[in-house]
Parts: sequence; C-alpha cells; structure tokens
Amino acid sequence: MLTEQDQLKKLVGQEAAHYIKDGMKIGLGSGSTVYWMIKMLGERVKEGLHIEGIPSSNQTAEWAKEFGVPLTDFSKVEGLDVTIDGADEVDGNLNLVKGGGGALFREKVIAKAAKELIIIVDESKVVEKLGDFPLPVEVLPFGWEMTAAKIKELGCELTVRSKDNEVYVTDNGNYILDCQFGKIENPEMLDQELIQIVGVVETGLFTNMTDKVIVGSKDKVSLLE
Ligand code: 5RP
Repeated sequence: MLTEQDQLKKLVGQEAAHYIKDGMKIGLGSGSTVYWMIKMLGERVKEGLHIEGIPSSNQTAEWAKEFGVPLTDFSKVEGLDVTIDGADEVDGNLNLVKGGGGALFREKVIAKAAKELIIIVDESKVVEKLGDFPLPVEVLPFGWEMTAAKIKELGCELTVRSKDNEVYVTDNGNYILDCQFGKIENPEMLDQELIQIVGVVETGLFTNMTDKVIVGSKDKVSLLE
C-alpha cells in the first residue's frame, strides 16, 4: 500500500518516462521517485523503445537491470540527451538540494553531461528557500575531520551520515556530511565556497542546472521551467 507521497512520486516518475524518445542516451538519477521512472521505461523498452542509460548509483543500476533498461557508460558515449532525477528540495529558481540518498557526486556528473535536466518531485520538495533539508556534502575519508572543521567555519552544524550504526560509505567509497546551514541565501556562492575546501568531493547544491521540474500534487501534475 503506497502512502500519498509515494503515489505522487509514482505519478511524476511515470510522467517523466514519456519525455524519453527513441534513440536517447539518458542519465538515470537515484531515489524512490526515479524508481517509478525506470520501471515505466522498462515497460516502454519491452514495447520496442531503444534507449541506453547511465546510472547514478549501484541501486539505480540494479533497478535498470531488473526492469530491462539497457545500460552504458562514459567510455562508450560522449554525452547524454537528458538526465532525469529526483531532489530533496527545489527553490523558485530551480536550484536544488540533492544527496538524500547519498548519490550526489554521480548525480552531478550525469546532470552536467546532459543537454537537458528534468527533475521529478512530489509537492513537499518545493520550497521558497533551500536549507531546511540538511545539505549533503561528499568528502574523502582521509582527514575528513579536518574537512568537517573547515566546513563548520562557513557557519553550519554537521553530522557524519551513518547507517546501521556504521559510517555510511558512498558508492565512491567516501563519507557524507549532512550540513545544517539554515536558510541558504546564496546557493551558488555556498557551493563555490564548499567545493574549494580540500577534501570536499562534491556538494548537494545543484545551481543553474535544471531545465524542468515535474511536480506531483494531489489533483495535478505541473511543470516548472
Ligand atoms: C539521492 C537524491 C535523490 O534524488 C533525492 O534524495 C530524492 O529521493 P526520493 O525520490 O527518494 O525522495 O538526491 O542522492
């Protein structure tokens, strides 16, 4: 039995799959909303759609295999036609906080590689200003304590992400610091400040990258662009 939020995720995930045309190379994001998009793509592949996807996480790769969506990698393709991904927060300028699922680095790679970035969210993710959701920052394990101290100097409280009482390790072998900055007044500037800190691999701030956001709410699916 799906929750109301999950039903909206399913709705926008399925809707997004209709943006995909024959022959496209697609960036496959991560998370429970993307799950529905991949499932629907699998059905379209069975009906004859020819596509190839590059997954942004091991979990996404597993789902793609399960639903029959062919995969490729950057040694075989030069770029992507479109990337479809979820988000943890979306603001009025279509800036995003991502990385709730820990896949932000590969998600940013496939977002940057694509001609078009389409984000799929339920209405709870749309906010006036980013920052209620703690900003995930991927850091190298070596010296992460030093990296964390430098990040704190930018004005946040942070925690090292854990799972089952162990430090959570990303698909890239790194750690995630969940950083509570409060409302983020200038996402682009904060992203630039963070990325300059030695040890920071990537941040969950996706600024000036999104082309379209498909939002699912109770009575309709709407498009922000
Ligand atoms: C993973 C992400 C996801 O896209 C984000 O967490 C949204 O996930 P969901 O669709 O499950 O709500 O950034 O790193």
